[in-house]
Amino acid sequence: MNTRRSVVISLGISLISALIPSAFAATGPTLKPTKLGQTIVWRGKKYTCIKQGKKLVWDKGVLIPAKVTQTPTSTPSPSPSSSPTKKPLVMEDIALGSASSISVGESKIMTKGKSYVITRTSSGLIAFDTTCTHNGCGIDFKAKTLICPCHGAEFDPLTGSPTAGPALTKLKSYEVKEVDGQIVVFDYPW
Ligand code: FES
Repeated sequence: MNTRRSVVISLGISLISALIPSAFAATGPTLKPTKLGQTIVWRGKKYTCIKQGKKLVWDKGVLIPAKVTQTPTSTPSPSPSSSPTKKPLVMEDIALGSASSISVGESKIMTKGKSYVITRTSSGLIAFDTTCTHNGCGIDFKAKTLICPCHGAEFDPLTGSPTAGPALTKLKSYEVKEVDGQIVVFDYPW
């Protein structure tokens, strides 16, 4: 009686397992191992084929550790190169030449890096830029007239004011003095 009963139960189980394989699926891989030592990755585990008696089966499997995603290391940004610090341009005393070279009532163009119109009056020295205020040409003396060769502008060496031609504004003036027998203008160095 018991034997018949167990046969019926076993047949029932077989039938159900055939109909609903997932219900009885092994916890290991469904793929049949074919070779001893064969490995397979299934559902996050690595299984190895082992021998159980005479059968080849999958072992319990080893959990594969989750991949460690490497966060990219931030490449250090190059430190700002130490660029040479630009020296601020500072006005300074510029010696142009001997003070005795210009008598009272005389004008002269003196050059040290750039040129200046220097005039000595009874009350002291006067200095102007030699750049024409019309369009930037260099002015020069022609006879006793301060004249621009480009378009003919003329300037008064005592005041720097235009007296003829297209120039409308005065020449740029500079602070000038005598220091140790030298004519010295106060300007940005060249
Ligand atoms: S640039 Fe001197 S007159 Fe024109």
